[in-house]
Amino acid sequence: MRIYDIIDKKRKGKPLSDEEIRFFVKGYTDGSVADYQAAALAMAVCCNGMDEREVVTLTLAMRDSGDTVDLSRFGNLSADKHSTGGVGDKTSLIIAPIVASQGGRLAKMSGRGLGHTGGTIDKLESIKGFRTTLSPEEFMEQTEKVGLAIIGQSGNLAPADKKLYALRDVTATVESIPLIASSIMSKKLAAGAHSIVLDVKTGSGAFMKTVDDARALARCMVDIGKAAGRNVAAVITDMDTPLGYAIGNALEVREAVGILRGEGCKALREVCYTLSAKLIELCLSVSEEESRERVRDAVESGAALECFRKWVEAQGGDASFVDDLSLLPQAEAKCEVYAPQDGYICSMDAMEIGSACVMLGAGREKKDDEIDYAAGIVLAARTGDRVSKGDLIATLYAKSEDIAKAAMGRFAGAIKFGDEPPEKRPLVYDVVE
Ligand code: URA
Repeated sequence: MRIYDIIDKKRKGKPLSDEEIRFFVKGYTDGSVADYQAAALAMAVCCNGMDEREVVTLTLAMRDSGDTVDLSRFGNLSADKHSTGGVGDKTSLIIAPIVASQGGRLAKMSGRGLGHTGGTIDKLESIKGFRTTLSPEEFMEQTEKVGLAIIGQSGNLAPADKKLYALRDVTATVESIPLIASSIMSKKLAAGAHSIVLDVKTGSGAFMKTVDDARALARCMVDIGKAAGRNVAAVITDMDTPLGYAIGNALEVREAVGILRGEGCKALREVCYTLSAKLIELCLSVSEEESRERVRDAVESGAALECFRKWVEAQGGDASFVDDLSLLPQAEAKCEVYAPQDGYICSMDAMEIGSACVMLGAGREKKDDEIDYAAGIVLAARTGDRVSKGDLIATLYAKSEDIAKAAMGRFAGAIKFGDEPPEKRPLVYDVVE
């Protein structure tokens, strides 16, 4: 078999055989297929697509290219969620303790922020003492005892995807549903959970700008999961505007605690409750109605907040901030942004606001940049709100006033005002099962 013939076949729009796909993945992982050949094949897939069988074979080959986590000891209770990435997306910090408090078992691996989007591991590291690396034994024991553990992704999980994703990033081949679906699902399947809920974002801050594209990606990922024998559902949610009021690591931890206390942003609560209920439905095999009730109970009874506290302590974190949020990292400088006119907030471009947050120090421009955990933005108004000239729109937090002022223009440019209220966008567009 020759990689040249495989590239040529896909360039002509023909389906590849399972053997050809496995030959490519094995060869790219061991270095016998060169970067330029993998890039050519990725471009051919971008242009000509893959059918369902090809996508499943590609995903399983990438899953099997490295370590896989065995969660069979938790049976059907093992649960995981994945978000395709967003701005202000702190849902994992809320959903994980809700689901664990109801008996689900989340031995979860998460990522760091990427570009304008945040990452769960960075948010957790804003908590004093929190360890995001655990030994495999600690990881399993903690999941057994507390119901959840979240760590950074192991270095050898789906290495074929790691290499291919880095290549796609610099060869304009990220935007392909078969390649995105196989990339995400190879890691999720390697991470071992039986029940998986995928939060597929759509809107200006998401990979999938339209609901139709988000639906197609969701369908493809759910089909892959089912072909691999997992219980998978996808929920399509809005990412046109940041999720909740806070964007930035410690600021988002603070907001997550608020939701677990039963307070805070209604839109964020609605998205978290929907995702939690879907995961409880899958991993505990209960009806949709019962799972919704369990989610409400978990928050109202305080069980989810208690689980969150035990989880932080189990991973070495100082959980005293749960009772006193001022103990989280606090920024040295802040800058306030006011409405320049009367009217409605018609849009808040999530991607631009995410980029303003990176400028404030809450994310990385380069892979090895240090993060300022206290930096970020707290919105005082959201899309659809009516404001008067001079009303507070947001507070920007940073290490210095100069840094905060430099990000102000970017933030202000992301907000559009108008005389009429904008058309209301749904928070949850669809569920794909
Ligand atoms: N996230 C991934 O892990 N892979 C992609 O291809 C896109 C987003």
